[in-house]
Amino acid sequence: MNQQELHQLASKKVEENKPLIEKDSNRLQFHLMPPVGLLNDPNGLIHFNGLYHVFYQWNPFETSHGAKFWGHYTSKDLISWQEQPPALVPSEWYEKNGCYSGSAVEHNGKMYLFYTGNVKNKNNERETYQCLAVSHDGITFEKKGPVIFLPEDYTPHFRDPKVWQQDGIWYMVLGAQTEKEEGQVVLYASMDLENWEFKGPLAGGNLNGLGDFGYMWECPDLFKLGTQDILLASPQGLEPEGHLYQNLFQSGYFIGKWKPETNRYVHGDFIELDRGFDFYAPQTFEDNHGRRLLYAWMGLTDENEAFQPTIANGWIHALTLPRELVLKGDKLYQKPVAELTQLRKTHDFHQQVSLDNEAKSWTAINGTVSEIYIEVGQHEVTCFEINIRENVKLSFNYVKSMITLERKSFKDGSPESRSCQLPILKELHIFLDTSSIEIFLNGGQEVMTARFFAEPTEQTITFASRGKVDLWIEKWSLQLS
Ligand code: FRU
Repeated sequence: MNQQELHQLASKKVEENKPLIEKDSNRLQFHLMPPVGLLNDPNGLIHFNGLYHVFYQWNPFETSHGAKFWGHYTSKDLISWQEQPPALVPSEWYEKNGCYSGSAVEHNGKMYLFYTGNVKNKNNERETYQCLAVSHDGITFEKKGPVIFLPEDYTPHFRDPKVWQQDGIWYMVLGAQTEKEEGQVVLYASMDLENWEFKGPLAGGNLNGLGDFGYMWECPDLFKLGTQDILLASPQGLEPEGHLYQNLFQSGYFIGKWKPETNRYVHGDFIELDRGFDFYAPQTFEDNHGRRLLYAWMGLTDENEAFQPTIANGWIHALTLPRELVLKGDKLYQKPVAELTQLRKTHDFHQQVSLDNEAKSWTAINGTVSEIYIEVGQHEVTCFEINIRENVKLSFNYVKSMITLERKSFKDGSPESRSCQLPILKELHIFLDTSSIEIFLNGGQEVMTARFFAEPTEQTITFASRGKVDLWIEKWSLQLS
């Protein structure tokens, strides 16, 4: 199908699905979602000509993975978003099975999108092309076709270009798999964004002192924060290790020093970015205030996908809230962006409370779309717990110094959990949307993200302790105005 036909067909799907999403109580209130079909990775994050642009992997035709489009939202303030026509549709031979993930940069007043053309050829084998599309207005894009072909020693699992400029040179990192099935990040360089030179591997399994580390790394992102070079990657094939790597695929980062001249990257350990259930393929960008902001897919390609109830209403998945990254010592902290305070509609609760071996709830704290801020004061407890809408439980075990997030599995409602070591619990900042929760612990030292699907009538939030604890609690109802 040509571009126009694909656009028309997608618009028709969006229109047809409107009545279904309107009545869906799981539709999120302040997160980005697809109007119909499946959303996965955030793509092309950029602040361009006064607007934030968020593109996303989108299959408008099904609630499963397929030939991806680039869906597109714009915003002045990261809060109210406007849906734009799809930026890329898989109409050409070099992308016929999907315009896969990529990134955006500005050059000479134009927006340049780099993305992966995914092709299944006649023999059902994968082919991959790194492609370029250019726009003057940030809304319509002219495709320039492939600018990079698969180099030797790599399988066609070679994708997700992230481009940036440093000291007058354009660089690109790509997620890759070697013929030995090691996950890697590779580097290219260019002076003009069209001619790219292969510079070799930058990081990955069996490189830079890292042992065996997965069979494929997706969605890399390399950027400076302070004096450090941070590399994000989403490795596939890591085995669970205690409480680490509990999801099917992981997303995390390395802190290190990268020398562009030699392409040597010396780095520390891999650290997971989010310790909940639903977080993958994060991408960052520097905005016009000099902040390093991150969005991720609030989901994962795993067995949960098939059991998500929103499928009945023709859509699946969402993006996380935008988070600001701050480097503190040897840890990346993630903070909900300051703009989110604009969502606060009513300040329903702000009070010092005490729990003494009991469970308590307050009508003013209950609800489905809210922000809850908690400071933990004096305590002599072994356990502190918050129960949310009878579907999610967050508990801190003082004996083990361990935070645990539990939810009902989408498949059969049985409890499933993710845990993370936390030396001390000082503060919890919770963003609750109709079917998602994002918990920022101790100012973003750890974050836990999850989708959950509760009955709209289940609105109670209960606090409980074993022992005595003083809490300062604030709660706002949130609403997009
Ligand atoms: C990550 C990913 C990327 C790919 C895209 C396809 O979720 O697999 O590697 O470009 O999704 O939608």
